[in-house]
Amino acid sequence: MALTRSQKAEAVVRPVQTVGEDDMLEQTLRPRTLEEYVGQAKIKEHLLVYIEAASKRKESLGHTLLHGPPGLGKTTLAHIMAKEMGTHLRITSGPAIEKPGDLASLLTNIEQGDVLFIDEIHRLRPAIEEVLYSAMEDFAIDLVIGKGPTARSMRLDLQPFTLVGATTKAGSMSAPLRDRFVHSFKLSFYSPEEMERIIERSAEIFHVQLADRVAEHLAGCCRATPRIANRLVRAVRDFAQVQNEHIISHDRTLETLLSLGIDERGLDPTDREILQSLVEKFGGGPVGLSTLATTIAEEEETLEDVYEPYLIQQGYLQRTSKGRMATPLTYDALGLQLPDQLQTLFS
Ligand SMILES: Nc1ncnc2c1ncn2[C@@H]1O[C@H](COP(=O)(O)OP(=O)(O)OP(=O)(O)O)[C@@H](O)[C@H]1O
Ligand SMILES: [Mg+2]
Repeated sequence: MALTRSQKAEAVVRPVQTVGEDDMLEQTLRPRTLEEYVGQAKIKEHLLVYIEAASKRKESLGHTLLHGPPGLGKTTLAHIMAKEMGTHLRITSGPAIEKPGDLASLLTNIEQGDVLFIDEIHRLRPAIEEVLYSAMEDFAIDLVIGKGPTARSMRLDLQPFTLVGATTKAGSMSAPLRDRFVHSFKLSFYSPEEMERIIERSAEIFHVQLADRVAEHLAGCCRATPRIANRLVRAVRDFAQVQNEHIISHDRTLETLLSLGIDERGLDPTDREILQSLVEKFGGGPVGLSTLATTIAEEEETLEDVYEPYLIQQGYLQRTSKGRMATPLTYDALGLQLPDQLQTLFS
């Protein structure tokens, strides 16, 4: 079935769920070593030290929490950590662990030094978190076997391992869980130069040649997010292929971006819808998250975790105690004049 234009735009820009072809894309393009991993210089610098120190001591790496908006490279980093430590990576996610027994069977199968990656760790159930505490602290778990008066507790020793937790919502994690991580890294949005490098790298892996300034142009249109950059590279490649174009031209790039609804600021249709609602329906705010989400028919969580971080970082949106507010840049992005009362507020 052919996708409509807005569905296509959605497929490229929405960074939350990835299935099938997208998973393949991510795996092919995923950097395998810290050296290949572009940007996040401070995190890499620290990780190199911790990895080297742990290897020298023949110990496992300290438990590590990775947090930040979707598509910035948390899962990638977990893969790299296991590889650089020369151990296996076991992958699961908060919602996938339903019973303490599920976690126990994962943990008891772990080999010495392995990395256990729990994605969406903020969604772990409290009963599972309890089990995780002693696993993280003592490399042991206490399991209750049986029910009623005959129930007894059994302690199982585990091999030392490294827990790597990833979350887009560090604020939703319980403090006791957060405190048990030895290292905590916040991934930040990538600079235009870093995005350009990521785009050039992906184009090379795809065997795609980009004309002059194409990488630079795309770098400004991918919400500073590698996952989106990779999807854009794939999209321009497809557009060029249809035209039998061997070197992707600037015109083809513009055509692709236009068809995906991405403007010259790199804002996508949902970004603009958010800003437009804020200005046109709520006079620039303040408006509460849930009201704004309802207006644009998005889930609150998606609005807050996927769209807002970039808009706020770029100054298109302000989060205040009273709600979300427009900024002078919001009006600028929509091609509207800043109202007088805001002019005084922001001058
Ligand atoms: N630093 C980087 N250098 C090069 N490519 C990167 C980098 N970070 C991420 N990528 C690319 O972006 C894609 C998405 O990254 P990843 O899956 O690690 O994001 P994530 O933070 O785990 O997202 P989510 O929160 O949605 O799970 C990867 O497949 C990889 O190709
Ligand atoms: Mg991930």
